Amino acid sequence: MIDQIELIKKEIEDFNITSKEELEAFRLEFLSRNGKVQSMFGLMSTVPKEQKSEMGKLMNEVKNLAQNMFDDASKKLTAKKKPTFNSKNDLSIPVEPTYTGSFHPLTQALDEIKQIFLRLGFNIADGPELEDDFHNFTALNFPADHPARDMQDTFFVKKSDKTTDDDLVLRTHTSPVQIRLMKDQKPPVRSIMPGRVYRNEAVTAKSYFQFNQVEGLYVDENVNMGELIETLVMFCKLMYGTDVKYKVRPSFFPFTEPSIEMDVWWENEKGGQWLEILGAGMVDPNVFDAVGIDSEKYTGFAFGMGVDRIAMLRYGIDDIRLLYDNDIRFLNQF
Ligand code: DAH
Repeated sequence: MIDQIELIKKEIEDFNITSKEELEAFRLEFLSRNGKVQSMFGLMSTVPKEQKSEMGKLMNEVKNLAQNMFDDASKKLTAKKKPTFNSKNDLSIPVEPTYTGSFHPLTQALDEIKQIFLRLGFNIADGPELEDDFHNFTALNFPADHPARDMQDTFFVKKSDKTTDDDLVLRTHTSPVQIRLMKDQKPPVRSIMPGRVYRNEAVTAKSYFQFNQVEGLYVDENVNMGELIETLVMFCKLMYGTDVKYKVRPSFFPFTEPSIEMDVWWENEKGGQWLEILGAGMVDPNVFDAVGIDSEKYTGFAFGMGVDRIAMLRYGIDDIRLLYDNDIRFLNQF
């Protein structure tokens, strides 16, 4: 009997548990209901009375041995692996920089402009880049012989199907979106209209054949010039800081009366200079007539700003062509 118990004990001690499968095999062999430990206790009935206590003690030792081995192995196999420290997970080692790209300076400037006007209660509207003469010129009160319609400034686009004689134009400004908005919507209207515009101009550091504008329009009863100027001054302060130097001077546009332009002081190595950032004015009654808004009842102000100019001023860029070359060495700086 003792030999049998010793044999089971030896078998248990020799069992090497290194995996979950072996752990289960161990449990089946020794600890399950039909396992060797249980059947060992079954032999108790054959043990003479005077040996019962000694055998019982021995059997309990074997049983505890098996149970402890099982518990230890089970703990080890289910425990999470402790992290080992190396250069991959040592939190004190400086990280290698990852290049994630950046937003184009025009996108950044445009985002800032949008945020400012959203704060001032404007919403955002959109219009096509390919326009007809009516929206780009006629409805905006351009006289038939106005020089802006000249081939010098406008890219004309021939319709291939020739269904009508009206040629299209690449819009020369975002002002035609004002016309579309007022045709679609009864006042009050308070929107900004960002977009790309095109002009047939020589490419230089200061001018390009395409650029970006943000148009603004506010139409309601009793809108006045004071509100226009206040809005533009507020814009300048939010865009360039409260100590920005600005200047408002009279100007002319066919679609506004009176008209103004706004300049902002640009400090640079050569001392500095005034840069025009926008044109604006009170919507001309002829424009209201063209879109069927009662010019006796409503007044409005409008403005159009150059996003490229504003971005150049904001980030100190002195050549507009840099904004369109997509040179990664330039773009990386933003
Ligand atoms: N459309 C003008 C331009 O491209 C800018 C402008 C001036 C827009 C005055 C306006 C405005 O809405 O009221 O030069």
